[in-house]
Amino acid sequence: MQKKIFNLFVRIIGAVALVSAAAFTSVASANDDAGKLLFLKGATPACAICHTLEAAGAMGAVGPSMNELQPDAARVVNALKNGIGQMPAYTSLTPEQVKILSEYVAKASRQ
Ligand code: HEC
Repeated sequence: MQKKIFNLFVRIIGAVALVSAAAFTSVASANDDAGKLLFLKGATPACAICHTLEAAGAMGAVGPSMNELQPDAARVVNALKNGIGQMPAYTSLTPEQVKILSEYVAKASRQ
């Protein structure tokens, strides 16, 4: 009897783990799509005008290529918040957009 309950318990845990893994995967890819959109046109002026990021199909050449630079998310956040050289600061992006965009650039630049 106890073994049956234990087996049931194991199954429930397995199902919960599966469902949360699936949910996590879909959130991750939704964020990738949102990050790509922000890079291509959501942020104004668009990052893609000035930067190359192959995964997004961006070929800008005013600033450094993200594929060569491969910045981590913190470096992108810093550029967005403070601007750098000719690049303006992006003060109108929400903290959520900054997070999504910077994590996307960090990941996509390594693809
Ligand atoms: C008007 C052109 C322009 C636009 C638009 C632009 N950048 Fe830049 N970006 C630059 C230039 C130029 C540099 C190099 C600045 C320097 O090192 O003096 C740069 C540097 C960077 C760096 C490297 C920062 C570092 O620490 O070296 C990152 C990351 C970056 N940009 C991301 C972005 C993202 C993300 C966007 C869109 C939200 C964006 N840029 C939009 C021109 C631009």
